[in-house]
Amino acid sequence: MAINWYPGHMHKAQKEIKEIMSDIDLIIEVLDARIPYSSENPMIASIRRDKPCIKLLNKSDLADEAITALWIEHFKSTKNTDAIAVNAKKTDAMQKLIKLCQELVPNKGSEGKPIRALIAGIPNVGKSTTINALAQRTIAKTGNEPAVTKSQQKINIGHNITLFDTPGMLWPKIENENSGYRLAVTGAIKETAFELDDIATYAGDYLLEAYPDVIQSRYEIEELAPNGYEFLEQVGKRRGCLRSGGRVEINKAAKILLTELREMVLGPISMETPEMCIAEQVEVDRI
Ligand code: G4P
Repeated sequence: MAINWYPGHMHKAQKEIKEIMSDIDLIIEVLDARIPYSSENPMIASIRRDKPCIKLLNKSDLADEAITALWIEHFKSTKNTDAIAVNAKKTDAMQKLIKLCQELVPNKGSEGKPIRALIAGIPNVGKSTTINALAQRTIAKTGNEPAVTKSQQKINIGHNITLFDTPGMLWPKIENENSGYRLAVTGAIKETAFELDDIATYAGDYLLEAYPDVIQSRYEIEELAPNGYEFLEQVGKRRGCLRSGGRVEINKAAKILLTELREMVLGPISMETPEMCIAEQVEVDRI
């Protein structure tokens, strides 16, 4: 599915969420733990005001534990915000989330006053998996197609908590090109304006900086190249992606690197740190 974020859809989603915001006690924003900044929806921050928000760092099984800990600390330092790392495919992880909802809205959740929690997330972060895990049943998926009107879903998940699934489709940080690349690297957005080779080169540049030991040992490269593109050439050579004359088929090498990165063959990898993203945001705000 090609995903495009058009101003019309964005406006509609914003309007729909604004309309239900006054009924909401708490927001659960599902993020991809590998890219907690890039997988945020920028509108949530502006319309939630001081409402409590849980940043749910999902897919934490794919992310670097030490970096996830930094993100949790970062989010917890923001007003009325808490954060936990989960793997939504494991239902037991949801107990932590339920407990956190109860702590953040202490005056509700008992004696017939249910906690009303809005669950939000850009496509592919695992929002549906989270909802199903919380509800302990399969709930029909909503909202991941921009042109289709979906009605608001209210889901009773027990524990005196009602989940409100966000109606429209939420968009990621599209104003930051680096975020676009990282969303593409993790597979969060499948069809993008970027070429596969460019996405893999971006990943290569980052891995050289952040995880040199991991890639050195995985691809058995004695001396790592100085940049992502040349690193891809090294991967291609190691894996026999060669044309006649010995030239490397970069596209094949790009596919190998991205597949191995996404499928955890390289182990848990995070694609961004709070420090990196704070610096990028300063730059985005300046432009
Ligand atoms: P969405 O509603 O936010 O669009 O996402 P959805 O729940 O459909 O999840 C997107 C993909 O991410 C699914 O994989 C899902 O299984 C996977 N996923 C969700 N949570 C986790 C997690 O905590 N860890 C890992 N490793 N994967 C997670 P898929 O391949 O698209 O579908 P499926 O074949 O697994 O059903």
